[in-house]
Amino acid sequence: MQLLDISWFTDSMREGRPVAVETRHHIQDISPTLPEGTTPTPVAAVSQYACQRLTTIENNNKVFTDAFEVLAESYEFSENEGACLAFRRAASVLKSLPRAVRHLGAVRVLPCLGEHAKKVMEEVLECGCSFEVVKICSDEKYQTLKLFTSVFGVGTKTAEKWYCKGLRSFREIIAEPCIRLNRMQQSGFLHHGDISRAVSRAEARALGSIIDEAARGITPDAMLTLTGGFRRGKEFGHDVDFLLTTAELGKENGLLINVIDRLRQQGILLYSSDLQPASSSTFDVNELPCRRRTFSVMDRFPKCFLILRLDGSRVEEGGSGLQRGEEEEEEGDGTGRGWRAVRVDLVSPPKDRYAFALLGWTGSRQFLRDMRTFARRERHMLLDNHGLYDKTKEEFLAAQTEKDIFAHLGLDYIEPWHRNA
Ligand code: CTP
Ligand code: MN
Ligand code: MN
Repeated sequence: MQLLDISWFTDSMREGRPVAVETRHHIQDISPTLPEGTTPTPVAAVSQYACQRLTTIENNNKVFTDAFEVLAESYEFSENEGACLAFRRAASVLKSLPRAVRHLGAVRVLPCLGEHAKKVMEEVLECGCSFEVVKICSDEKYQTLKLFTSVFGVGTKTAEKWYCKGLRSFREIIAEPCIRLNRMQQSGFLHHGDISRAVSRAEARALGSIIDEAARGITPDAMLTLTGGFRRGKEFGHDVDFLLTTAELGKENGLLINVIDRLRQQGILLYSSDLQPASSSTFDVNELPCRRRTFSVMDRFPKCFLILRLDGSRVEEGGSGLQRGEEEEEEGDGTGRGWRAVRVDLVSPPKDRYAFALLGWTGSRQFLRDMRTFARRERHMLLDNHGLYDKTKEEFLAAQTEKDIFAHLGLDYIEPWHRNA
């Protein structure tokens, strides 16, 4: 038995028969006013899969999701992947709710909320905070690992290693003679102040026009698309993600490396990760989409992690983080010099894989994670950033657009701004 929105009834009346249940027929607004102690009827109102929920950038349950994020991160540091994902999933469900949860009765019907998560929510509701979360936040190890992993190029493992050596600050790391920073980490430390500051949409747009100009100078049919959080409607991001392709299949070969060369010639390339070896840049159609749930599945398209120099003069009025007046100040953190460093991700898929790459790089991470799980569990298909494979039919399913991919999976199409799971 399912409890549905009245739109299912009116659609059925119009069709003259009971129509198939779609996402929009599900009740998004679960009864948060239910009094404590009453048992609600079990309803299939909220899907366990983020790819069947609508999640805007507006989060009505930030008090809970912030607490869950601390727990998830702390489990990530201790390499407890299961518990980490469980809290990320729980946070994602709460983010999809159209209202703030005001008492525990309201979450009883929600999927993905385990006992631990509910206990945290109960404390937040009763005391305004979770004692477990407060304790983690004041923990020296947690704070140190959070600080170290905030550096571009420093992952959990490296942070842990440095912590175990007794290091607690950037100053100590830099001064430690036995630590050899790689190129990425050196840039990470050098530009840490700048790249820790959020990137605005105006700054993203300015970078887009710079990269677009460079790409069109190489091949006039180059196409650049803004993806990542900005495509989902976020006004700020930790980086800017772009897809670079060409109208004609095959012309994208070598494009990325040439674009990066141009940026270097312009003197705005502060850092660029090594490009893929040429052999791995051609996608092998006979290779199955990766079964792994991690995000390393992307490494077969040419891609590059960059740090670019963005001059304030390139950014539209009012949109720059470099406010007028601040320019005279000697800050030492970038605000006084009229330019800033920005993290940019550039991926260059061939045109026939574009829809898959666009979907994958638009995210969110959780949305895509659930979409892949849904494909595998519910449809016997394998999805990744390169393609979709139907295990029953034993064939790849082609897609020109994101809509085609949703359709292959039998999912209602969800707009990018509803994918903020
Ligand atoms: N992604 C991927 N493979 C990677 C890195 C990222 O497929 N190696 C995808 C993820 O699906 C992610 C998207 O690219 O959702 C964008 O990644 P990221 O920039 O880390 O996250 P955003 O959602 O853009 O968040 P922010 O605005 O903070 O940058
Ligand atoms: Mn991003
Ligand atoms: Mn990114």
